[in-house]
Formats: sequence, structure tokens, C-alpha cells
Amino acid sequence: MNWKWLYDLIESFGYELEDYRRGTPATDLAIWRAVRGYTVTSPSRIFGLLGAVEYLTTHKVPGAVVECGVWKGGSMFAALRKLVELGDTSRPAYFFDLFEASTEQEVKERAAETRYRPELVTTIKGDVLATLDAIDTGTIALLRLDTNTYETTKRELEVLWPRLAPGGVLILDDYGHWPCFKRAVDEFFTAQGIKPWLHRIDYTGRIVVKA
Ligand SMILES: C[S@@+](CC[C@H](N)C(=O)[O-])C[C@H]1O[C@@H](n2cnc3c(N)ncnc32)[C@H](O)[C@@H]1O
Repeated sequence: MNWKWLYDLIESFGYELEDYRRGTPATDLAIWRAVRGYTVTSPSRIFGLLGAVEYLTTHKVPGAVVECGVWKGGSMFAALRKLVELGDTSRPAYFFDLFEASTEQEVKERAAETRYRPELVTTIKGDVLATLDAIDTGTIALLRLDTNTYETTKRELEVLWPRLAPGGVLILDDYGHWPCFKRAVDEFFTAQGIKPWLHRIDYTGRIVVKA
């Protein structure tokens, strides 16, 4: 049956109907199914993240994987599962959050279910405005920002962007959704004098590869 009329109808209201399974490797779909209960992000943003991990592994970009704003941990679990799949299991992983949606211990236990080496996983509980400076992550390969306030996003970029390796990937979860998030990012890059290409994942997610 031709469903074009349905797609056209939905599109006429400004929405897009997409079957996220089309063109997605079975292994990535399996990761999505494993983490979907622990994330509020979209399938497209998880698949964008998995693509970023594959790129970093393929090109041997050195450094840690870091997320600010992990909630129940789903995005980081997806990244760790992909690293395990690719046999790239020596990167430190840092989970920054207030840990109110799940306890720090619960997130740690679920991280262990990914089969990533637990000794490489560090959870940092508290306000990133206080914790970021206290933790030396070393060089970062993958940086995912998802705390969503102007102050936290700006501070995360000020502290962590300089640590991102050349070729490293920055993922901005809420650039299109929260105006304050976009303002923090735009102001930061303007102050740096750089105009990176913000690759669109979906209406809100963006990916930047550091030159
Ligand atoms: C939208 S959720 C993150 C979603 C998650 N990345 C995912 O994949 O589902 C935002 C998270 O940011 C955290 N957060 C907000 N402000 C924070 C702050 N000042 N310091 C640390 N974490 C913060 C909240 O605790 C919450 O878990």
C-alpha cells in the first residue's frame, strides 16, 4: 500500500514521520532497545551518538567519553555498549549528574551491565558548576552535553572544550529545543572566534567535530 498521503498529511502539520529502523544496523537497534528505558533522548540522537563512537574508534581519536547530564544513564550506556561491540574498551568514562532520577549506585550497576570495564567508569554526583573543575578527565574524545541550563552549558564548554582532542566529537542534545542552551553554545563559540558546522541530528540535536 502507498502511504504517501499519510506522510503528506502529517508533514502538512509540520511533523515528520520516520521509521527509525530503516537503514539502521541491527546491532544499533539492539543497543537502542537495551537503553531506551534509561534515556529521554530520541532514537535518532542515540544512533548519532553510536555513529560518533564508531568514527572515534575508527580514527583512533584518543580520550575519554564524557556526559554532563546523564539522567538514568541511557546515552552513556549506549556509548559504552558500542565501545564494547567495537573492542575499544580502554577509554575512561565520566558521568556527571545531580543523580536525582536514579541513584549514583543504580547508574553504576546498570553501567556494569554494558560489560564495559567498571574500573573505567566514574560517576560524579553534584552540580557541574562545582564538580567540573574538581575532576581531571584528561583528554576527551566524546563530549555529550545535556544539562540544559544556560549557566551549566556555558561552564561545561569553557572547562571541557579545551580538553576535547582534535577530531573529537561534541554532541549538543538540546540546541534546537532550549533557547538558553543555544545561546550558551553560540556565545561560547563566538567568544572563541570559531564557527563550527553544527551537524543536525534531528530538530534539536547537533554534532560538532573539533577541527
Ligand atoms: C535531560 S536530562 C539528561 C538526559 C540524558 N542525557 C539521557 O540521555 O536521557 C538532564 C539531566 O541534567 C542533570 N542536571 C541538571 N542540572 C545539573 C547540574 N547543575 N549539575 C549536574 N547535573 C545537572 C539533571 O539531573 C538531569 O539528570
